[in-house]
Amino acid sequence: MNRGLLIAFEGIDGTGKSTQIRLLADYLRRQGCEVIETREPTDGPYGLKIRQLYMNRKNCTPEEELELFIQDRRQHVDEVIGPALAQGKIVLTDRYYFSTAAYQGAAGMDPDLIFRAHDFAPRPDLVVLLVMEPEKSVQRIEQLRGEQLNDFEQVEQLRKVAGLFASFTDDCILRVNGAAPIEQVQREIQKGVQALVANGC
Ligand code: TYD
Repeated sequence: MNRGLLIAFEGIDGTGKSTQIRLLADYLRRQGCEVIETREPTDGPYGLKIRQLYMNRKNCTPEEELELFIQDRRQHVDEVIGPALAQGKIVLTDRYYFSTAAYQGAAGMDPDLIFRAHDFAPRPDLVVLLVMEPEKSVQRIEQLRGEQLNDFEQVEQLRKVAGLFASFTDDCILRVNGAAPIEQVQREIQKGVQALVANGC
């Protein structure tokens, strides 16, 4: 059976990844594709630990934090992403190892080492990188979700994260302006994905 397709959505917080994933999943299903939507951090044991960090990030060193994200991803690849790809499905993941290179890179770890630590993770066929000014993404989070920003979401930190995302040069990255209207963003994403499913699902 053909390997499926892996499409990762990346970008700083508040860029609209989950909305765009939902719209793309609907679009692909209408074409008869089998799609799974998934996310990192996961809802598994490592993902739960990572979410606890939101409350008390100071209890954890950057090295320990990196290790948790990698363990979470290892389990995600073994239990969800790998099997779905083997069954020929299209996997849409909200964040993947580019997030680790950008966020843990911004926290002081070496992004190149982080990429190299991901030999075990299937290379995505496409990375949709939603690009937006940190001030705007933070404004969105506060206004739309009525959320208080957590430790990961401070503007200064996000600026560093955005700078690292901007520095990645992988061929599979499609950069899309996340500040454009939702429908326009979705159209650009669909154009990028269309080439990959040209022969149908
Ligand atoms: P997020 O996508 O906001 O999760 P949710 O909306 O489901 O709570 O991710 C949570 C935070 O984790 C986000 O600020 C980015 C950060 N993160 C990393 O620092 N490294 C990683 O490898 C991943 C996957 C996420």
